Amino acid sequence: MACNPEELIAAAAGAKEKAYAPYSRFKVGAALRTATGKVYTGCNIENASYSLTICAERVALFQAVAAGEREFTALAVVGGDLAACFPCGACRQVLAEFAPGLEIITGQPGGPVHRRFLRELLPDTFTLK
Ligand code: THU
Repeated sequence: MACNPEELIAAAAGAKEKAYAPYSRFKVGAALRTATGKVYTGCNIENASYSLTICAERVALFQAVAAGEREFTALAVVGGDLAACFPCGACRQVLAEFAPGLEIITGQPGGPVHRRFLRELLPDTFTLK
């Protein structure tokens, strides 16, 4: 259970090591915290048919949803050695389906933490609700 931003970033950094990114060589890890404090992780998984690549953030979310989770509070992302790596537009939309109030945390272990709410990153979100 990760309870603070640094712990969630550490979990994302650990997940990054599992990334399969032979084409871009840009490894990404994500760690998603549920309302009950569980953490689900994901990494990017690329494909020779490039567009079939899936981002770390969606892998983490889909792992969690497939395990029966529906409520999320925070997502940490660690991308390569970038100081900050916020989710791409596609991931923002997918995350908003389940967690419009999500907080996004990004950085590197031991470095500055950058925090934004998903609604800041994807204003006027498309939704059927
Ligand atoms: N990628 C992610 O996993 N998450 C992001 O937020 C940005 C991009 C991956 C997709 C691809 O495998 C690699 O990074 C380069 O775009």
